[in-house]
Amino acid sequence: MVKKNTCVFISGQGTNLNNLISHSRNISFPIKISLVISNNKHAVGLNYAKKYNIPYIFINTKLNNYENKILLNLKKYKIDFICLAGYMKIISNAFVKKYKGKIINIHPSLLPKFKGLNTFARMLKNKEKKAGCTVHYVNEKLDSGSKIIQKKFFINQKDDEKILKKKTQKLEYKAYPEAIIKIFRNF
Ligand code: GRF
Repeated sequence: MVKKNTCVFISGQGTNLNNLISHSRNISFPIKISLVISNNKHAVGLNYAKKYNIPYIFINTKLNNYENKILLNLKKYKIDFICLAGYMKIISNAFVKKYKGKIINIHPSLLPKFKGLNTFARMLKNKEKKAGCTVHYVNEKLDSGSKIIQKKFFINQKDDEKILKKKTQKLEYKAYPEAIIKIFRNF
């Protein structure tokens, strides 16, 4: 099997990146992580790229043409699949068009509910019964592309934001690799 050359975009802790790296070390996992891009120089997640000798690049999103720099690097590393994992920057429509159907994201809610930020606080405020995560394709509208996998759990009365995050991330570590396997199963 030829693994898809993949770039993971991060901004922070990178625990999903770490999880994807460990899965991708399995010969039968469909992707190889060949590049990590961060818009945050100090992202803790960059340490995982360092640890596993994966090339990584900091992109200064304050510069006007930063997406061109990203595109050049994707070309350089022959990237044909992109996983967003806690990347806190909106990707432009032009960029999405270039990689249509090849960018996926993981979001900490049961989409289409709670798109955007602060999902856990909003869930609690809304007295939701269920929480979870969604892996979806990225399209031109925020958190609105078609769903690949969704995993849920029942919210406990005692759950606060911190606990919801912990429970959600535990599911994310299953959902993201499963979604990737699902996408490439028929390739
Ligand atoms: C994840 O919870 C994901 O749902 C959201 O950002 C978080 C990133 O966490 N998009 P990490 O950087 O992978 O630890």
